[in-house]
Amino acid sequence: MSQLKDKGYAIYDYMDSLYYDGIEKDYEEILNYFENLPIDDYAPELNRYRRYSRALVLPTSGDIEWLPDVKRDGAEYAAYFQGKFNPEHPGSYREFHSIDSHIRDNKLLKKIIMANYEETFWGEEDKIMPIHVGVHFVKLMVDNDEDKAVSSPDCLHQDGEPFTFAHLIERKNVKGGTNAIGIPGVRGSQPDEVDQKDLHEIFEISKPLESYGVDDSAVSHYVGPVMKGSEEGAAVRSVILIDYQLTVVADMDE
Ligand SMILES: [Fe+2]
Repeated sequence: MSQLKDKGYAIYDYMDSLYYDGIEKDYEEILNYFENLPIDDYAPELNRYRRYSRALVLPTSGDIEWLPDVKRDGAEYAAYFQGKFNPEHPGSYREFHSIDSHIRDNKLLKKIIMANYEETFWGEEDKIMPIHVGVHFVKLMVDNDEDKAVSSPDCLHQDGEPFTFAHLIERKNVKGGTNAIGIPGVRGSQPDEVDQKDLHEIFEISKPLESYGVDDSAVSHYVGPVMKGSEEGAAVRSVILIDYQLTVVADMDE
């Protein structure tokens, strides 16, 4: 049984397990792309930058098919349904700047999407429909000693999508950005407020492509605020978050 299935979460080192000739070059392309992520329009005061695109994984062929964007004022956007578990944006639609097509075609990104997909598990009858994949590029960046960049939501939580994976792209001069995994019952709390026996693990991902994944219904998860470390220059923590969910079909009886 996989660790994800057994424990509800798993930690990975994809730079090692996905290694192929040219992985460094593909990683560099993604890393450079994070340099100029646009500010998150929904949280400009929180030092958060982001892009987002959606894709389908076709269960029979294993192909990735990117969904089309919405054009608005000359920019390309992808729509995102937040789901019901984010207390800061309950049940709302949001639109994000989309990921450019040359990055969508990055071999490493595709390998990561498929490696995560292969970790997910579904009922046999669910796999006749494509699996929906949401790919978020998220950068938290802090310039001043007194500031901090906060993930959303800023507490132990569940995402609402059945599976979510986080992949570290860069961690530079960061204090904080610590991950915690807990039982579902502690969602809504800070890790230091809860009974420590209700936390499975507290850890940091620090190397490129160190990653973790959660079976959302089995655990709650948390990432702490990012603050500046003791070195010169801004604190930067960049991750790719990828969520996996079923195609939702209308109820025939309604
Ligand atoms: Fe989350």
